[in-house]
Amino acid sequence: MEQAQRLQRIPPYPFLEIAALKSRMIAEGREPIDFGIGDPDMPTPQFVIDALCEAARDPETHRYDESGFGTPGYKRAIADFAKRRFGVEVNPDGEIQSTIGAKEALAHIVWAYIDPGDVVLVPDPAYSVFKVQTSWCGGAAFPMPLAPENGFLPDLEAIPKAARQQAKMMFLNYPNNPTGAVAPLEYYERVTEFAHEYEMVIVQDAAYSEVYYDTADRPHSILEVEGAKDVAIEMHSLSKTFNMTGWRVGWAMGGAEHIKALSRAKSNVDSGTFMALQRAAAAALERYEEFAPQMQAEYRRRRDALIDGLQSLGCPIEPPRAAFYVWAPVPDGETSESFATKLLADCEVLVIPGAVYGACGEGFVRMSLTIKGEDKLGQIGQAIENMRDGGLCW
Ligand SMILES: Cc1ncc(COP(=O)(O)O)c(C=O)c1O
Repeated sequence: MEQAQRLQRIPPYPFLEIAALKSRMIAEGREPIDFGIGDPDMPTPQFVIDALCEAARDPETHRYDESGFGTPGYKRAIADFAKRRFGVEVNPDGEIQSTIGAKEALAHIVWAYIDPGDVVLVPDPAYSVFKVQTSWCGGAAFPMPLAPENGFLPDLEAIPKAARQQAKMMFLNYPNNPTGAVAPLEYYERVTEFAHEYEMVIVQDAAYSEVYYDTADRPHSILEVEGAKDVAIEMHSLSKTFNMTGWRVGWAMGGAEHIKALSRAKSNVDSGTFMALQRAAAAALERYEEFAPQMQAEYRRRRDALIDGLQSLGCPIEPPRAAFYVWAPVPDGETSESFATKLLADCEVLVIPGAVYGACGEGFVRMSLTIKGEDKLGQIGQAIENMRDGGLCW
């Protein structure tokens, strides 16, 4: 049966291909040290599992969540969290939408705003969903390069006048996948002003907001900026904060107009989040302060070990400030693809070529600190030794 032309406009999800490559290697008896997909290897906290089990036993949670926006208990927990963590006031009635993770919200917000031919400003490199959803809606993605010399922040001044005037939406993602950068509050202030001036909606993907290493780098919410709610919606997720990627739960917060638009799009596609899961998510957010430091300390140990190892091989790299990714420049004479291929073939080390994230990702590979199996630091040390033995250095 012939499939829709629309489907031909989007590629297969890249990580499914990487997962398939790894499975083929394992079938051949080779198990690479896996710095590939960013998926927390630590378990969901027991108190969250307990909250889900208890909530699932209550038949009240078994029906559709007819609120459309999320249960009052979950929305209240989100508003409390936003106040404690970012000092931001969000109204549970109208400024919050429960979501099936950040990805679902990022997809549906594009469907809510973008018509064929509309321009969307998309960072490059970036999480693939921004560009793919734009083209699925018939929109035109205009790339905003993220360069190391700009702290991996889009240079607003460099966006051509025509693109600013045409753009209806801008995606941002801080803490950033794949670069590990964070956005200072002053940057969000400039972006907010820019969005007001050129009348566009800012979609800030905050999926990694709690994965950071130093309190000095604690990520901000764009909603901390006065007037941001008029132009911004921010996507949050429990996936990375609480090791809950498979649970599929998050939220959007922002101005009521943007939340309403998202809600209208998504409620016609999904029917909300299992109410027992919303109760468990509320329980997680209520105990955020207790749990997050352990998670952050574990990634800090891994980051420091990997950065020390790469530096010992001559790699000119600074420690990332947030997210659980190391964005390493490739040695001279290599492309991101050739280097990733060499690492896999000669060193049994799986990394993602930066070009997967866009043209400006060329020259880098991404290494995720979410490492499966026992002895994480041992595996990091082994990967560095394999690279040294394989003659890979910068
Ligand atoms: C930048 C970014 N945003 C969103 C997501 C998806 O998060 P969720 O599991 O909440 O859908 C990911 C997942 O890797 C990501 O890297």
